[in-house]
Amino acid sequence: MSKRLVEDFTPNNYQIYLDINRQSKMIKGVTTITGHANTTEIAVNQKFLQVDRVQVSDQDVPFSVDDDNEIIKITLPATGEVVVKITYQAKLTDTMMGIYPSYYEVNGESKELIGTQFETTAARQAFPCVDEPAAKATFDLAIKFDEQPGETIIANMPEERCEDGVHYFKRTVKMSTYLIAFAFGDMQKKLTETKSGVKIGVFATKAHQAKELDFALEIAKRAIEFYEDFYQTPYPLEHSWQLALPDFSAGAMENWGLVTYREAYLLLDPDNTTLDNKQLVATVITHELAHQWFGDLVTMNWWDDLWLNESFANMMEYLSVDAIHPEWKIWEMFQTSEVPMALQRDATDGVQPVHVNVESPAEIDSIFDGAIVYAKGSRMLVMVRSLLGDDALRKGLKKYFTAHQYGNAKGDDLWDALGEASGMQIGEIMHSWLNQPGYPVVSANVIDGHLKLHQQQFFIGQGQDQGRLWKIPLNANYDAAPQIMDQADLDLGDYQELRANNGQPFRLNVGNNSHFIVKYDETLLNDILDHGELDNIAQLQLLQDLRLLAEGREISYATLVPLLQWFSNSHFAIVNAALYQIANSLKKFVIPGTALEDNLRQLFDQISKQQVTRLGWQPEAGESNDDQLTRPYVLSASLYAKNSASLKAAHELFNSVDKLAELPASVRPAVLQNEAENYGTPELFDRMISAYQKTADPGLKKDLCFAVTKFTDPELLTKVVNEFENTKVIKPQDLRAWYRGVLANPAGQQLAWDWLRNEWDWLEVTVGGDMEFATYITVTAGIFHTIDRLNEFKDFFTPKINTPGLTREINMDIRVINSRVDLVDNEKDSVNKVIESSIR
Ligand code: BES
Ligand code: ZN
Repeated sequence: MSKRLVEDFTPNNYQIYLDINRQSKMIKGVTTITGHANTTEIAVNQKFLQVDRVQVSDQDVPFSVDDDNEIIKITLPATGEVVVKITYQAKLTDTMMGIYPSYYEVNGESKELIGTQFETTAARQAFPCVDEPAAKATFDLAIKFDEQPGETIIANMPEERCEDGVHYFKRTVKMSTYLIAFAFGDMQKKLTETKSGVKIGVFATKAHQAKELDFALEIAKRAIEFYEDFYQTPYPLEHSWQLALPDFSAGAMENWGLVTYREAYLLLDPDNTTLDNKQLVATVITHELAHQWFGDLVTMNWWDDLWLNESFANMMEYLSVDAIHPEWKIWEMFQTSEVPMALQRDATDGVQPVHVNVESPAEIDSIFDGAIVYAKGSRMLVMVRSLLGDDALRKGLKKYFTAHQYGNAKGDDLWDALGEASGMQIGEIMHSWLNQPGYPVVSANVIDGHLKLHQQQFFIGQGQDQGRLWKIPLNANYDAAPQIMDQADLDLGDYQELRANNGQPFRLNVGNNSHFIVKYDETLLNDILDHGELDNIAQLQLLQDLRLLAEGREISYATLVPLLQWFSNSHFAIVNAALYQIANSLKKFVIPGTALEDNLRQLFDQISKQQVTRLGWQPEAGESNDDQLTRPYVLSASLYAKNSASLKAAHELFNSVDKLAELPASVRPAVLQNEAENYGTPELFDRMISAYQKTADPGLKKDLCFAVTKFTDPELLTKVVNEFENTKVIKPQDLRAWYRGVLANPAGQQLAWDWLRNEWDWLEVTVGGDMEFATYITVTAGIFHTIDRLNEFKDFFTPKINTPGLTREINMDIRVINSRVDLVDNEKDSVNKVIESSIR
């Protein structure tokens, strides 16, 4: 481990003065840090700052700027308590990091909102600081800007006074640098208060209708109330502001007291939205507000324990939404989003464990991996919760917060607190999951009359078995199985006897809360399919596990096809989610435009037809949640099937409205897709692009992006790609979705892929140095499935393998495409044969 700056110099307080000018795009700053120096040679972080002067107790001192290490080295006259004053300048740039402008239009007028994004290591771009999570201090923020009448400025803390145009904010509590935030511009807001008197607010530009702020306000209030109760620890600040920024790199950011969001993750039109959009916005808000305790009040000591922040927030978002809206059954969404994401990526050899050592800024950014620290990490904590129960969990968390508030913690501090509260050696179990990459497949077999279990690491694609073992919470439905399986093999005894005594088929991982998959032998699987009264989670789990086993080449892919028909009339939304994931995964086995594709389309028609008739193209008031969530799956399948009644119904719906915004949100993506795909003209294209540019409704924007990438005319698709770098049409924050859309379109794949390769340098400058960058590679690897594309991918990315932060991604993605190419090669004949025989 390299040395941290905080070991030599520990700041206690920062006086930060900033003068920000939007016109000249310049920032002038003075930062005065009071702290304790252990040596006379100290350093503080800076990036892109022009440092003019460093003074210690008002005397100039020698300093040197080291840009490679992002620091200023300062020589002090003496050790001990020191006051270091740094005078500097910086540029206001469009990187969506540090202090940056967001661009938007109100009634045709171009406007700017200034905001901040400091996590992971960008506070140093705004002011010199010891930019490490363990260097907690208090902050006194003073900001001046080229202020216009009516403009608002907000920050972590309330404003204390304004003198000579300088806004002074109250001193913060002790906190980490990456959580400092402020914003100013012409904003609208809505305010309320929690039971305990915390002021809650939602802020946005005036491009939005006021009602778009309402849903967020209600959720934020209820979330703070829930967490105060669940954590048994009060929210320590006066206010909790939520701010939607028009330009935002991540999804949302938990700055203490001033949480920032992408507009799409905070604002929604309550009169025309969908249940799943509400669920998404609610989980984003509750995620960030969970961080106000997990992350802000208690912070990981170093980024290697990032999971203490992100895995926890990711679990808590579901736990709290479940309390706020129990009727949503939000844990079902956990099963269709987090669970498959974690199981998929964690099966690729070369993946990182949840707990991972990191040093450089690029390495730190690279571990914000949606599938690992978020999805797998939250799954780990779901596993912990189901082992401990909520009482011990809450008791343990209370201990943890009391012991570490306003300070930092390591993973073991959490296990100690939870262990004390529960009397369980939970740390021991969890080490096997957090420090090892991957997860096991447990095979259940009847061998020589005995029911036997075996655990082994599961791989999709080439994997090196290193004999890893996990302490697996089995959650079996037979008592003969232990609570935890920690050895490779287990013999549960005579199968017939067990079966007779238990009176039901043998099942493992009941509830699907442990991070493993199950491979039942034929006897056991048929027993489950024939006799099991399976609930929706069990059905989804069966489909999910079998799909993974097929991708890992443990079973033949063709065996999945009959399951589609078996489950096709399920009324459970999550079963349909798993079912259509399989159905859509069959598309890679057929070449577009061939007879085999026609067969697949027929299969899609067969499995979706009855459901389309049942649910229809018009959502009805009072529908069950399951029906609302199922409709998009079956409509999209029906469009792929080119079902003529569906094409017609969607087209009629499209023609029945004057404005695209009038289409009901729940069928809007499918209706717009149908137009683009089957009725696409240059006029329609222009209409959609212009609507995309004009609307401030994030939901409509998303649907239009989705639809426009579905045009089939190469000329129109070329026009789309030509807009990729036009930030007036496509904001950099939204570009990845556009790229993915065109790349996934067979008529556009070559165009998008050529663009990526030609414009890589532009992309690196525009979104580089940020976690977004690597995900362009992930997205590409998620789509490619032919040997030619694999080779092109390798040719292009192998020379870039040593780019900081990209090494693991490139290595893994080559494996991902490789294994898909192998799968298609080996299984396409049998898959297509089964498709053909099942449509007859
Ligand atoms: N702390 C992160 C935001 C972040 C991520 C900042 C990476 C810097 C680098 C925030 O709490 C978060 O997790 N945001 C998610 C959305 C969330 C609802 C899962 C994101 O941005 O994707
Ligand atoms: Zn987070």
